[in-house]
This record gives sequence, structure tokens and C-alpha cells, in this order.
Amino acid sequence: MYSEKVMDHFMNPRNLGELENADGVGEVGNPTCGDLMKIFIKVENDKIIDIKFQTFGCGAAIATSSMVTELAKGKSLDEALEITRDDVATNLEGLPPLKMHCSNLASDALRAAIEDYRKRH
Ligand code: FES
Repeated sequence: MYSEKVMDHFMNPRNLGELENADGVGEVGNPTCGDLMKIFIKVENDKIIDIKFQTFGCGAAIATSSMVTELAKGKSLDEALEITRDDVATNLEGLPPLKMHCSNLASDALRAAIEDYRKRH
């Protein structure tokens, strides 16, 4: 039911872990399933220069957050804010309809991390 790309990001998640001294941290819970996602960003000159995630979520949540971190790294904050759940799903070569809400978790956590950064600066 999952694409090869989803399986790859699930088995070998990119940017998994925590960033010490992160400039912004976003934490969101998924109302649909109760899973949790945390994203840490490091920002320089308005660009995301480093990003990591932690999740207590399903396999799709791991794959989508891994993909979100890859999409966001190197982007300006405004560009990163435009990453949608559909971008995440498309880059993963599709997600089963029942799992689309999992990609919300990842893009919402990224947005929350950027908002947190902007509040602090
Ligand atoms: Fe909860 Fe996927 S089922 S994030």
C-alpha cells in the first residue's frame, strides 16, 4: 500500500533526532490519531540551515516528516511556510488516502517551528 519512496524514508529517516540550541521548535498533535510530532530548526539569514524531527507517530508520520525536513532544508522561512501536505505526499510518490492526515502533522509542525522562531526574534 506504500510507495517505495515512503518505505525508504520510513526505514531510513533523514534528519531524525533533536537539535540542541534550536532557534525554533514546533510541536503538534494530530487530533485524528493522537500522534505527536516535534520539529527543530536552526536559522541563519532567514534560511533554514538545519532541521531535525522527533515523532511518536505511525510509519507514514515518520516518512512524511523525513520528507518535510528534506524539502525545508536550505529554504527561506517564507518558502518553507509554503510547503503543503500535498507537496509532501507528491514527493513521496503518493500516500494512501487514509494516511493523508499524517502528512499534515509534519507540515503543521514545520509551520509551528517557524512561528516559534519568529516569536523569539
Ligand atoms: Fe497518526 Fe499517522 S496515524 S500520524
